Amino acid sequence: MKPILILYASRDGQAERIAQTLALHLNTWPVQLCDLKDPSAQTIPSTAIIVVASVRYGRHLPEAVQFFKRHTQLTQTPLAIASVSLSARKGDGSPNTYLKKLIQQHQLSPIAALSIAGKLDYPRYRWLDKQIIRLIMRITGGPYDGISCVEYTNWPQLTAFAQKITAHLHQRSAAG
Ligand SMILES: Cc1cc2nc3c(=O)[nH]c(=O)nc-3n(C[C@H](O)[C@H](O)[C@H](O)COP(=O)(O)O)c2cc1C
Repeated sequence: MKPILILYASRDGQAERIAQTLALHLNTWPVQLCDLKDPSAQTIPSTAIIVVASVRYGRHLPEAVQFFKRHTQLTQTPLAIASVSLSARKGDGSPNTYLKKLIQQHQLSPIAALSIAGKLDYPRYRWLDKQIIRLIMRITGGPYDGISCVEYTNWPQLTAFAQKITAHLHQRSAAG
């Protein structure tokens, strides 16, 4: 059986952690986990592709955007997307503005799409990034002290996302 390919784009590690947890949820299927920065990852034959990508300054990381530019012509393989951002901490998991824009721009038809909260980690940020994130958090009612480290990821949302994907794949394989 061809594996489910989980491709992630991460800078500070939270999208990667989400991708790893997703792989554990999909354990009844063979799963291959790859960094989108690895060009060989995208050529692996797969039953489905799940992209987990974080947002920086209003955009998904460039390696994820590059992937979607190509994916439209690539294949008929079912696609699922998890978008990781801090603004998703206020949502219920349904696609937020970033994810809707990505889907629209690349004319994607994902079988599941999740906007999931990432992690606030001030000690990791460079000075300028820290000031900008402080400003964003102040505007959006989050901690703006410049020292907090808070994981906002709603793990049950990820579990539900994994279940939606497996239900779709089971249905597909039953239909032959
Ligand atoms: C420099 C920088 C810019 C960010 N820009 C945004 C943003 O525009 N919108 C948002 O909701 N979150 C933003 N975030 C929050 C990240 O999406 C969040 O911290 C996520 O967990 C990062 O994922 P990663 O650890 O996989 O890189 C930003 C974080 C950093 C460090």
